[in-house]
Amino acid sequence: MAAEEYVLGMVGLGVMGRNLVLNMADHGFAVAGHDKDPDKVKALKEEGREKSVRGVETVQEFISILTPPKTVMMLVPAGAPVDSVIKDVLPYLSKQDILIDAGNSFFKDTDLRAEKLAEKKIAYLGIGVSGGEHGARFGPSIMPGGPKEAYEHVRAMLEAASAHVDNVPCVTWLGPGSAGHYVKMVHNGIEYGMMQLIAETYDILSQGVGYSCEQLGRLYTQWNEGPLSSYLVEITGHIFQKIDEKTHKHLVEVILDEAHQKGTGTWSSESALDLHTAVPIIDTAVQMRSLSGAKDLRRAESGMLTGPSPQFGGNAESLVQDLQDALLAGFIVSYAQGFRLLRKASEAMQYGLDFEKIATIWRGGCIIRSELLNRIRQAYQRKPDLVHLLEDPDLAKQVIDLQAGLRNVVQTAAELGIPAPGMMSIVAYYD
Ligand code: 6PG
Repeated sequence: MAAEEYVLGMVGLGVMGRNLVLNMADHGFAVAGHDKDPDKVKALKEEGREKSVRGVETVQEFISILTPPKTVMMLVPAGAPVDSVIKDVLPYLSKQDILIDAGNSFFKDTDLRAEKLAEKKIAYLGIGVSGGEHGARFGPSIMPGGPKEAYEHVRAMLEAASAHVDNVPCVTWLGPGSAGHYVKMVHNGIEYGMMQLIAETYDILSQGVGYSCEQLGRLYTQWNEGPLSSYLVEITGHIFQKIDEKTHKHLVEVILDEAHQKGTGTWSSESALDLHTAVPIIDTAVQMRSLSGAKDLRRAESGMLTGPSPQFGGNAESLVQDLQDALLAGFIVSYAQGFRLLRKASEAMQYGLDFEKIATIWRGGCIIRSELLNRIRQAYQRKPDLVHLLEDPDLAKQVIDLQAGLRNVVQTAAELGIPAPGMMSIVAYYD
């Protein structure tokens, strides 16, 4: 292809960046890619051989082949790498060009960067992209924020590349400034909460009821076919069935029980504290990851701080039903807390968020996609200014009906000495 014929340039050709380039190319958009690491440029060249994709080694040449207004998207780790890329590309950008940060950047950094670039008349979009490697390649959920005119320029491309549910693309402009990165941050906060709750059901089923990996795999897969249907429950079902190629053991048995975090969950909690908004399930999930990461401390004290036998002696079938109910109640409350935080942030930061739209674009492609989001969307359709999701009669009734199971789970966990701080926080928040 000749010069100036590529409609977008991607900086950062790690697997996410590379997959997003290939995804856009599959939808008929000519995309260029650049990375400081020549091996990654080479990988793009190889994978994009048959497509309208070009890998370029130098920044100058990379930007020279873009169609004006030149649109550069960055997909690099949050923090210093973003500033470093901005520094590299800025000398080659002119007024009206568009710079997009599609990583998990801290929203306050996005606002500062946007302000600085606005002085040079360069439009800065902060875009959250969710769905991991597979999503980037075949359809993520995309959460854009920043100047609306700049979004309109890339809209067709993002809509084509995004996931679709009922023919509706999982992308829409969310608001000015850092609105997109803020929404993505809260998406991740909700993700942390849901994962914590799933982990607690696993712990009770495994330690308490003595479920094997096969039984767990079957149970989560079955749960995924009902009202708990969601990406996270689906992959939980898969992971228990996965066998480690090296040891031939179940993969979950060889994974270290030591969780870490990249930052978005903690930022959600910090922002909620600043906004005086209660998101205890996110706080709990963040703190439990820290405790999980403190493996030495846990190991040192576990022999000393004794407790009851974790073995459950009651009716296992009814406990399994209670766990399903508790998880569903927990998911609803996790979304309720996340949407409440979005509402408070929207007021404070004047994002003008439309919650129905957010529920709509979270229905596909992203990590927290679930059946429940259809109902959350309907709740906002019924009442767009809903103050809290549990004020919606449909969702409220469901949590009211599920609370008995939730209470039984909390009580059982406390009696058996199996930690269930997420479930405990859900019940306390509800009460
Ligand atoms: C996504 C995910 C992805 C990742 C986060 C959280 O939406 O595709 O949220 O962004 O899971 O970076 O990472 P940690 O759980 O390691 O903090």
